[in-house]
Amino acid sequence: MTNTKEDVLILAIESSCDETAAAVVKNGREVLSNVIYSQIDLHTLYGGVVPEIASRKHIEKINQVVEKALADAGIALADVTAVAVTYGPGLVGALLVGVSAAKSIAFAADKPLVGVHHIEGHICANYIENKELEPPFLCLVVSGGHSHLVMVKGYGEYEILGRTRDDAAGEAFDKVARAIGLGYPGGPKIDKVSREGNPEAIAFPRAKVEDNIYDFSFSGLKSAVLNYLNGCQMKGIEVNQADVAASFQKAVVDVLVDHSMHACRQYGMNKFAIAGGVASNSHLREALEKACAQRNITFYHPSPVFCTDNAAMIGVAGYYEYIKGVRHGWDLNAVPNLKLGERI
Ligand code: KG4
Ligand code: ZN
Repeated sequence: MTNTKEDVLILAIESSCDETAAAVVKNGREVLSNVIYSQIDLHTLYGGVVPEIASRKHIEKINQVVEKALADAGIALADVTAVAVTYGPGLVGALLVGVSAAKSIAFAADKPLVGVHHIEGHICANYIENKELEPPFLCLVVSGGHSHLVMVKGYGEYEILGRTRDDAAGEAFDKVARAIGLGYPGGPKIDKVSREGNPEAIAFPRAKVEDNIYDFSFSGLKSAVLNYLNGCQMKGIEVNQADVAASFQKAVVDVLVDHSMHACRQYGMNKFAIAGGVASNSHLREALEKACAQRNITFYHPSPVFCTDNAAMIGVAGYYEYIKGVRHGWDLNAVPNLKLGERI
């Protein structure tokens, strides 16, 4: 379909961690292009993301990725309505590459600039394939850096009900994967290997946080896995990698499902969504699908490609910010610890 003058075309850029990404999104819900250059292979050599290497690779790739996003969408830069970019949270050096590129492009092409919160982007990924989804709804955001239970009250309006006190869910997946010899990135590898294991084989703890029932804590679980592995080594017992992976994953999934369903009940919410890299976990999706079905809650989830970092989700969030009138100046800076709902 051709684009008309009334269409809002957002060119979006994302570079907060180890994906260099650009996309074109039409009217907030239609993805015209979604280009992702993943640096995973590069960081795998070091067992995790090396910030300095990530920044350098972003610099190398950013222009190619933006050009491809425009070409795939079949539009010229002049056709773009506004440029949206992730300005936090994330790795400061990585964010700066995207922010600088977006500012240069917007300035050169005389387009408005809209800074986007990375987690808001993850939440908005749900709008892409669920055209009927509108706020209010409850959203569980589980990524490498964040675990948040969020009430989405309106477009760009969020109330955080719970957050992690220590490790994020994805971080726990990555650390446990490393400990059992699966390597980086841990999440997808644990997801796969767990299919061969018994989730009831080892009783790992399900942590509860005393003063906020919606907060998460995964560091105790991670320590329990490490202690279990140490114990096996000292006793000369062979570790069953698949059983450890499946039991650990079950402990994470149980807590995430439990908190989410508790919040749905407490807030009388019948729409529930998930977002972030860990939201592509097949066991978590199955468990939530089942839990929601039992409670007559409609369950929304993006396809895996829109769960892990991408720029299409930034284009969607950028659209809703743009139509609200949000504009950023040429002094927009990267904010590595930007809070959800906070505007700078
Ligand atoms: O959202 P994301 O791409 O980046 C951040 O904003 O952090 O999330 C990356 C995280 C990593 O920790 C990765 O191990 C995890 O998401 N992840 C998964 C799966 N796919 C990615 N965790 C569990 N199961 C998966 N299938
Ligand atoms: Zn992310």
